[in-house]
Amino acid sequence: MTDESPTPRTAAVIPAAGRGVRLGPGAPKALRTLNGTPILVHAVRAMAASNAVSLVVVVAPPDDTTSVKTLLTDLVLPDRTEVVVVPGGENRQESVRLGLDALPEDIGTVLVHDAARPLVPVDTVDAVIEAVREGAPAVVPALPLADTVKEVGPALREGGPQPVVATPERARLRAVQTPQGFDRATLLRAHRAIAAEGEGATDCAGLVERLGEPVVVVPGHEEAFKVTRPLDLVLAEAVLARRRANDGF
Ligand code: CTP
Ligand code: MG
Repeated sequence: MTDESPTPRTAAVIPAAGRGVRLGPGAPKALRTLNGTPILVHAVRAMAASNAVSLVVVVAPPDDTTSVKTLLTDLVLPDRTEVVVVPGGENRQESVRLGLDALPEDIGTVLVHDAARPLVPVDTVDAVIEAVREGAPAVVPALPLADTVKEVGPALREGGPQPVVATPERARLRAVQTPQGFDRATLLRAHRAIAAEGEGATDCAGLVERLGEPVVVVPGHEEAFKVTRPLDLVLAEAVLARRRANDGF
């Protein structure tokens, strides 16, 4: 690394400010535990596991920012890993933007990773980073669908069944996960354009698509599933138990 051209670093922004309404009553989702460890801690470890990641920005539930800071200060991470905590916003997109605002200038590649995907393997993280470094402005991990998907229309009468209007060909569809990886300038441009337009998207890559920039997929991983409903907690703890049995820790 020279003074004139420091190597751009990679940061991971972790939106963790959601309530987790679909998980049912309790603490915010990121602070619920899997085998006694908060989901957020699993997610931070998953990002810090990549040698390329030297900064993790956690976007915390606004009312819990102080306790999240304490939780993460006590966490043992690799020496290279710096952690910053900022309060989140009303929706995911707003929370991501608040996380992006906290990035220092020397960050060239940005991962955006849902706290709600605590078990993503490091190989998936590294595959996303590598594809960005090889020149893709936006990269998403994706898996083929198990279920057939139907598009439905409004019910013909109040309370009646909704009609199916289309069946997209399953082989052409992918379910996308996180971390999604971006060239920093592209992601900032996408967020600024959308803030001006006022219209949202359900993932960051969707914002980049609206710019007309290419988005590519790399293979996702079944363990990168999103903890959304109560049954997902059972699955996540089973994955951790399998890992412990296989790794001996
Ligand atoms: N998220 C966020 N800020 C928000 C809403 C969501 O940072 N205002 C984050 C969540 O913490 C989560 C990720 O975005 O890590 C994906 O969102 P989702 O799985 O929908 O989580 P929640 O919004 O918390 O869950 P629910 O929709 O069931 O309330
Ligand atoms: Mg949500």
